[in-house]
Amino acid sequence: MTTSATATPVILDCDPGHDDAVAILLAVGSPRIDLLGVTTVFGNCAVENATRNALDVLALAGREEVPVAAGAAEPLQGAAVLGNYVHGASGLDGPALRRSTASPVSTDAVAWMADAITESDRPVTLVATGPITNVARLINARRDLHPKIAEVVFMGGSTERGNHTPYAEFNTYADPEALDVVLRSGIRARMVGLNLTHQALATPTVVERMWQLPRDLGEVVASWMGFFGGSYRKIWNFSSPPVHDPCTIAVLIDPSLIVWQHAFVAVETVGEFTRGATVVDLDQRWPQRPANAEVAMRLDADRYWDLVLAAIGQLVLQPHLW
Ligand code: RIB
Ligand code: CA
Repeated sequence: MTTSATATPVILDCDPGHDDAVAILLAVGSPRIDLLGVTTVFGNCAVENATRNALDVLALAGREEVPVAAGAAEPLQGAAVLGNYVHGASGLDGPALRRSTASPVSTDAVAWMADAITESDRPVTLVATGPITNVARLINARRDLHPKIAEVVFMGGSTERGNHTPYAEFNTYADPEALDVVLRSGIRARMVGLNLTHQALATPTVVERMWQLPRDLGEVVASWMGFFGGSYRKIWNFSSPPVHDPCTIAVLIDPSLIVWQHAFVAVETVGEFTRGATVVDLDQRWPQRPANAEVAMRLDADRYWDLVLAAIGQLVLQPHLW
């Protein structure tokens, strides 16, 4: 598929993970995204599984040429917290995917990111949909590259409650120090938290539209929602699963999908009960702390799903898939 001349250069750092997998399909299915590569991180599963899953999802989409670089197996500090309790033993339980014949191009995602940014003729957007460890390590290691990072768009945190703990969303809980690095870096940061992604529900109507997509992509994605939805019903009593991660890509394709608010955002790193919580000053109660992020507040869910499904449908129509 040819990307448009004005396509946004993107590196997607992720922990596939069912919703990360849909984000990958959206990124490769849209001509408005120039996906330079996928980097993987621990989170929903061990990084080895996340890497395997990323390769297999790209193969499913017929896009095995997209480079995959393996990244951090654990956070900046402490031990890895894993989300297999949501995504299953493989990290992407549900339909068995054809194994990709591709291998990771690197096991040093940070070095690979640095090279990709250096070689890009335009500033690169870093999209993080897992624990933001790789991005933080890049920011710390390569200050010379900051001017070539257009922005960091991350799925993480919340203006409300958490999901992994009462007040911490999983990605931020898994590496709060890493998010602290990003928020203090001065690089444009856009936060897509649970308050936004809980508006992106894969309702029965949406899943039915997935089943209608031709060939096996539709069935695979709908089956992913079956497994993911089962976890969300059992753990959080959701009737439909929130498909978090594609929101970060969708808004790069159609900026009108999300309403943002500039705000000061901090991440708690020391609270006994609140470690990993994002503190978002929506009411400017701390005038001495100026806004350091744009916070996603409202999603046009109908147009979000129209965009996601159209992009996946566009993939299925690729002749080289047949
Ligand atoms: O809390 C939701 C986030 O954690 C999503 O990115 C999901 O894939 C997991 O990584
Ligand atoms: Ca994720």
